[in-house]
Amino acid sequence: MHLLRDRGYAHPLSSEITPRSAYLDRRRWLALAGAAAWPALSTAQARPGKLTALPGARSAVPGALVMDKPTSYNDASTYNNFYEFGTDKSDPARHARTLKPRPWTVAVEGEVKKPGSYDLDALLKLATQEERIYRLRCVEGWSMVIPWVGYSFAELIRRVEPTGNAKFVQFVTLADRNQMPGLSSSVLDWPYVEGLRLDEAMHPLTLLAFGMYGEVLPNQNGAPVRVVVPWKYGFKSGKSIVKIRFVEKQPPTSWELAAPSEYGFYSNVNPQVDHPRWSQATERRIGEDGLLAKKRATLMFNGYEPQVGQLYAGMDLRRQF
Ligand code: MTE
Repeated sequence: MHLLRDRGYAHPLSSEITPRSAYLDRRRWLALAGAAAWPALSTAQARPGKLTALPGARSAVPGALVMDKPTSYNDASTYNNFYEFGTDKSDPARHARTLKPRPWTVAVEGEVKKPGSYDLDALLKLATQEERIYRLRCVEGWSMVIPWVGYSFAELIRRVEPTGNAKFVQFVTLADRNQMPGLSSSVLDWPYVEGLRLDEAMHPLTLLAFGMYGEVLPNQNGAPVRVVVPWKYGFKSGKSIVKIRFVEKQPPTSWELAAPSEYGFYSNVNPQVDHPRWSQATERRIGEDGLLAKKRATLMFNGYEPQVGQLYAGMDLRRQF
């Protein structure tokens, strides 16, 4: 996100999840479905880190499996935003090996009847992991299609039993200077925080993700656990989460704190509401960026309007952007 020049930064524009056999079945299914260019695992570039296959059958949640051709694993794991490891797109893949995704615990606190601390292994087993093929639209104007592995965040919400006062959920991500060289920069206030309204968090498409492409998440994509909210700009999908707070009031979020006139709490993908400094009407699909590649039209709610549109009935999305 190329804001925050005031902070001295010139930002760039823009084994526990699916057995391998099921994953290969999915690839066959995708080929049948017309996504013939699913990246062959054998020809994919060297994968950063040692990754383990995760179980996860295809999701039955409506809208959870877009038919667009998936982005290559190499692009999805080397073109990243994870400012804790630097602001260049290539920084996370180069620097995130210092992140230690195990041991890991996620604290759940605030307005819930059952607060507690979840060890990663407990979290992995909390519900059945499944594969979701989501579009990810970055606010900078590019997009990818990523097969994630995880389960609906609602599974966790149900188990912790929010009280009547819980109206919002805040996600707090790791901020450890020993593991994250980017924290020496003041580009954002750390830790990176994000949030959702409780009904958005409860929506079955809101994913708690542990893997992608049938394997555990590479560090640069938010290991060991992140959120993915496919109808919102990518920055709503916090990586490497350590705390989940249920709260009564709308919680502060990192990009809104950094530039409130440019980034709002909702941040729904909306081609009709431009960023103050650029249009949001079109997007560049990573992997299609050759000289002759056409930009794609950005879709309302990133194409998930049939599933999520009713969450915003009656709201003025220009004002609550
Ligand atoms: N989470 C943390 N903790 N720090 C970040 O800088 N960047 C966000 C989001 N989550 C970010 C983060 C942005 S701007 C985007 S577009 C997505 O992560 C990118 O996710 P990906 O690299 O897996 O595609």
